[in-house]
Amino acid sequence: MSSVATKVRILLADEDPDSRVELRRAIQRAQLTSAGEVGFGMSAISYALETRPDIILLSVEEPAARALQTAERLTQALPDTPLIVVSSLTDPGMIRRAMLAGARDYLFKPLQAAQLLESITTVLEQQERRRLIQAGQVQRPAGRGTVVLVTGAKGGIGKTVVAVNLALALRLQANQSVVLVDADSTFGDVATMLDMRPEATIVDVFPAADRLDREGIRRYLTAHPSGLQVLAGPPDGAGWEGVSPEVVKKVIDHLAQLFDFVVVDTAGSFDRTVRSLAEVATLILVVTSGEVSSIRDTAGGLARLQMWGVDPARVKVILNRTVSGDGVKPADIQKGLGHDIFWEIPYDRSVGQSVQLGEPLVLNSAGSATARRMRELALRVAGLRRPTAPPPESKPKSGSIFSKLLFGR
Ligand SMILES: Nc1ncnc2c1ncn2[C@@H]1O[C@H](COP(=O)(O)OP(=O)(O)OP(=O)(O)O)[C@@H](O)[C@H]1O
Ligand SMILES: [Mg+2]
Repeated sequence: MSSVATKVRILLADEDPDSRVELRRAIQRAQLTSAGEVGFGMSAISYALETRPDIILLSVEEPAARALQTAERLTQALPDTPLIVVSSLTDPGMIRRAMLAGARDYLFKPLQAAQLLESITTVLEQQERRRLIQAGQVQRPAGRGTVVLVTGAKGGIGKTVVAVNLALALRLQANQSVVLVDADSTFGDVATMLDMRPEATIVDVFPAADRLDREGIRRYLTAHPSGLQVLAGPPDGAGWEGVSPEVVKKVIDHLAQLFDFVVVDTAGSFDRTVRSLAEVATLILVVTSGEVSSIRDTAGGLARLQMWGVDPARVKVILNRTVSGDGVKPADIQKGLGHDIFWEIPYDRSVGQSVQLGEPLVLNSAGSATARRMRELALRVAGLRRPTAPPPESKPKSGSIFSKLLFGR
């Protein structure tokens, strides 16, 4: 990665001398080539137009107006030069403003060299792909199955529960051919939730990903008695180190040529793998619990997806009630997220037990409202039927405890 990145010329835009020192250090540690340093305003634009850097790194702190105005003008003047914002502000509202100003990624201070390199590599790869698509040299593959990415901003919010039940219900209720992929690079527990003992996992596929033919990938799959095929993950994440997101994407692409549905479970962060998979996903299900901390993180995650250029129509929020009676109203959550809730899954204490036993709810629990909502979700995702349950309350009510916590009003 660094051999590509070292050729990259990076322009630093920052008004604050202390912050400049920090960012300069990160740039040096990442062994990037400096294209110079500028402040904000018109001089930054003319300098950038003169020097034509490959990347612009722009620091944003409060008051952010001038920095964001400079970001907007820079991205207008140099639309093919990706601009990355770096900031100590973690507020989702600020991430959204940076995105609207044209930022292609948003990194937090203190800036780590590895993070900077990762971000640069990803935005440049994305830029190159855009260029090739525009030039007509790359086409979206036809005849592919539907890739459903199940993701979320945190651990323990029910991503795997949703992915496993959705995949099973797509297989059983919607009668589709389905493969469930465990792409959680930290803690692969899909197989455990299905009480399966796979002989191969996704990390066995990675070294062979370039050589695999269309059918070759089948030997790494494990069949569940329902007919669902599973590409399991290593329980401890071993084998994921240093794996390029492009390779993961290739594996998913192979599977999408073989199955009606590829359901992908991921780790609890919007990392490079998720970014890369978001590009090939037909549908991105962002799972959130109803807890305030989860809503905040989800808002940040949604802003990130938007900044990455993911079409909002492909992003659907699933509200999974992992806590009994958390009491936060869907309307308040929608307001906090700035995004509609597509689906709500009620709390059910038998979910915990079903996880322990490796017997997902949709296989049993015929009378459970939670199992029913999961089945209906699968039908909806398969485009087979409209939901039978009423949609969540949609009129925002202002002034609740939740909005006070989230917005301070
Ligand atoms: N609808 C629900 N009702 C009650 N409990 C739930 C519900 N959904 C999930 N849970 C509980 O939350 C736990 C965590 O779920 P899960 O493992 O799917 O989370 P995750 O987001 O995949 O976490 P990680 O990122 O660590 O993999 C489950 O073991 C279960 O006990
Ligand atoms: Mg999980």
